Amino acid sequence: MTDTSLNSIAVLTSGGDSPGMNCAIRSVVRTALGAGLTVYGIRRGYSGLLDGSFELMNASSVGNILQHGGTVLQTSRCPEFLDESIRREAFHILKRKKIDGLVVIGGNGSYNGAHCLNQEHGIPVACVPGTIDNDVQGTEYTIGFDTAVQTAVEAVDKIRDTASSHARIFIVEVMGRKSSSIALQVGICTGAENIVLPDLGEPDFSQISKDIKRGIKRGKSSSIIICAEGEKPGLSYRIQERLKDDHGLDAHVCILGHIQRGGNPTPQDRSIASQMGNVAVNALLEGRNAIATAFQNGKVIEVPLSESLGKDNKYDPKMIDLAKVLSI
Ligand code: F6P
Repeated sequence: MTDTSLNSIAVLTSGGDSPGMNCAIRSVVRTALGAGLTVYGIRRGYSGLLDGSFELMNASSVGNILQHGGTVLQTSRCPEFLDESIRREAFHILKRKKIDGLVVIGGNGSYNGAHCLNQEHGIPVACVPGTIDNDVQGTEYTIGFDTAVQTAVEAVDKIRDTASSHARIFIVEVMGRKSSSIALQVGICTGAENIVLPDLGEPDFSQISKDIKRGIKRGKSSSIIICAEGEKPGLSYRIQERLKDDHGLDAHVCILGHIQRGGNPTPQDRSIASQMGNVAVNALLEGRNAIATAFQNGKVIEVPLSESLGKDNKYDPKMIDLAKVLSI
């Protein structure tokens, strides 16, 4: 049943951008327009909401964007939004604009902002998981992860070429301040000799060194250690130092950094983002409130937003075992 009180919605992207966000925006806008709604795009996430950066969207506003990385609405991190009085201001701005529902595309912090707006002021919200980190609770997948992994894998394959030619050891640092999902996936896909996941605690430098030396002994021409950036900057340099000082191994460091956040989204990211944008708007249209879209068992569904709050560093420990078995 369609909620007849819903006339106008807004959409924003928030937190770190991720490839596929544009597909989600396009899907939100076109699904809403198709249902006869007025749609506003809010620029620069919650910061733009607070300074009234609203843009009326039509079908052409989202034309020719789905293949591009980044977000046409731009994004920001907005620590002010942690403040209750600032969120009250945001509520009044949305009311003055006569906005009846908000679609938020982002990660954990963005979800929390939407949840607070909903709980404190009754704004109907629907969230779409957009972050390369794949660490949002309640969904097996977040938009952008596949593209980020592909970018990193392509880079590591290139590093492997030069590492093999020179018989070198490389430590490649991938993104993931609080999530090790990218590191594990990239490590498996590139046949890394070691994968360092900082959320599991201090790396075992002796084991890393043993693994590398064993590989060299059996004739390996290169060794690659993939590490997630972790919360404390400089992890890859610390590994480099310890390998040199304690184990006599010379390793090069390559930090992939923000290239992993850009680039054309993969078909998987385009498809899931398109489905999620549509599911989010349909939920609002049907009067369901405080939901998040999620990918579970191969399908895009909606789940209560309350079940999607919080981080979930989702990786299967079996994948860690697999990496060990395959990297001998
Ligand atoms: O988007 C998620 C993420 O890429 C993390 O993996 C990373 O730690 C962080 O964002 C970096 O964010 P910023 O670009 O704001 O420094």
